[in-house]
Amino acid sequence: MCGIVGYVGDEECATLLVDGLRKLEYRGYDSAGVAVLGKEGLSVVRAKGKLANLEKRLGEQTPRGMTGIGHTRWATHGKPSDENAHPHKYGGVAVVHNGIIENHLELKETLARAGHKFASETDTEIFAHLIADEEKSGKTLPDAVRGALAKVKGTYALAVMSERSPEMLVVAKNASPLVLGLGETCNFVASDVPAILAHTRDVIFLEEGDFAVITKKGVQLTDRAGNKLARAVRRIDWTPTMAEKNGHKHFMHKEIHEQARALTDTIRGRASVEEGDVYLDGCKLDAKTVAGLNKVHVVACGTSWHASLTGKLMIETLARMPVEVDLASEFRYRQPLVDSRTLCVAVSQSGETADTLGSFREAKSRGARGLAICNVVGSAIAREAEDVLYTHAGPEIGVASTKAFTTQLAAFFLLAVRLGRLRGTLDAPTARKHLEALRELPMLVERTLKHEAEIQQAAYKFSASRDLLFLGRGPQFPVALEGALKLKEISYIHAEGYAAGEMKHGPIALIDENMPVMVLAPRESETEPGVNYEKILGNIQEVKARGGRVIAICSEGDTMVPDLAECAIAIPQTNALLQPIISVIPTQLFSYHVADHRGTDVDQPRNLAKSVTVE
Ligand code: M6R
Repeated sequence: MCGIVGYVGDEECATLLVDGLRKLEYRGYDSAGVAVLGKEGLSVVRAKGKLANLEKRLGEQTPRGMTGIGHTRWATHGKPSDENAHPHKYGGVAVVHNGIIENHLELKETLARAGHKFASETDTEIFAHLIADEEKSGKTLPDAVRGALAKVKGTYALAVMSERSPEMLVVAKNASPLVLGLGETCNFVASDVPAILAHTRDVIFLEEGDFAVITKKGVQLTDRAGNKLARAVRRIDWTPTMAEKNGHKHFMHKEIHEQARALTDTIRGRASVEEGDVYLDGCKLDAKTVAGLNKVHVVACGTSWHASLTGKLMIETLARMPVEVDLASEFRYRQPLVDSRTLCVAVSQSGETADTLGSFREAKSRGARGLAICNVVGSAIAREAEDVLYTHAGPEIGVASTKAFTTQLAAFFLLAVRLGRLRGTLDAPTARKHLEALRELPMLVERTLKHEAEIQQAAYKFSASRDLLFLGRGPQFPVALEGALKLKEISYIHAEGYAAGEMKHGPIALIDENMPVMVLAPRESETEPGVNYEKILGNIQEVKARGGRVIAICSEGDTMVPDLAECAIAIPQTNALLQPIISVIPTQLFSYHVADHRGTDVDQPRNLAKSVTVE
């Protein structure tokens, strides 16, 4: 939540900062601003709303200067407005901040008693006041920032500049992410790598409590007390074009279409069909460690939580290990039953979701071994894990997660096979069959994407609906949950995902001609339709008997489901545990086309942000 970018170097930086903010807009988009320090002093330009509003304002008055900070906001304290937009300026100091300062009211009162006047409703503005006061007492900028940090309680990624210390940025991190970018004659800071990728691929991820002074000559890293620190420089292999739309109308559309490539990258070098085993780079799990574990406990939020529900089925089926899946926001505060015999798996695209990170730490503090399934390399959750399974999906910019979900499922499948092999519950020939199916997936994904025109037609037909129900059984139940989440977050249509068997326990009361029902009804194997398929045929009949309209996702070659449905999308069939990777795609495309048809902001839906770094 909230995106920060900063630059010190030899170039005029206002435009460069805005270019960086564009790559971070997914983090928050209710206002944006830049502060630039040049010969005429410190200039701040801010605008409520999307970045385009700021750009328009900058077109009228581009501030000049070669040191600057920028921010794109997701409001926590104070409504979206010009005044509450960052940077906040006071006494020659400008600050941008991501996080929440818990004691800001108390500090504000003390400062107000000393004569300070506040221009915004934000918690962030107190930083500018505190730092300006510290500077006035004769401290250097780094010491003034340290002094201010000693007074605040809360979370922050903070970037500060001051008229009294030109050509310098001071940054600090506590719980919210920050990365430094290293250039030849310039240096950067940002909330996330895409903001600076056009300029450098050499980065340092800051750790909790890190403090850095950035000049064009270099970066000095210390802890808050001023003790020198050494942090590894990492080379990022994402290219700047990976974060572009490449001719697609929206990032979400591009990312849906990238799933075959993304899955190939998740699987590459890890699945050996010949040996019937899996090699997980970054995971040190061996037979001895696994023998010491008695359960898996997964923590995640949103789409990652849905992927985890399917992951549970995969691990329980293939490795015969009990798996619990928790919403990270519920796990933390309920005295979870986790100990040194637990493998805690944190699943997160961004690797920085506050609730997931907090739960992961909680589980680890109780002795659990921590394994992260993450997309963003070097992210906070990945850094705190003993074992990391990167999904390698590439940057996901659309707020609605798509390729993150399918690659998380592939990662879970790899983990399940590995655990099964290590525990002896899966023999090599069976593992081989599973891995063959996994290897075929990218091709099946491509085949599914070819149905886009039909799915688009169905989407247009139902795009005026007020509500929509998604039903699934077994491995398709999490897909129903995910389908409903996707539709509501981007189209604002109310949608619910339900286990089809639960329908008769309540939701069936909702069924009538105004409540379309999307039913996930693929067959479970080539040879046998499977029990979930047979049962869901019954559920479709129940819906129809009550006048409900059915949109069905069924297997190619199936004739029973299409006979019952108003619209049927036929998809390729695969192994039942992997089928969700295929059947989720029509739900993604359906939601996308409904939203696009309704004219909503698909990539940046209202009230949301891509990375939720506050609790
Ligand atoms: O980065 P994470 O996977 O930890 O994010 C978790 C959720 O915030 C995320 O999946 C969210 O639900 C998406 N907007 C869903 O499309």
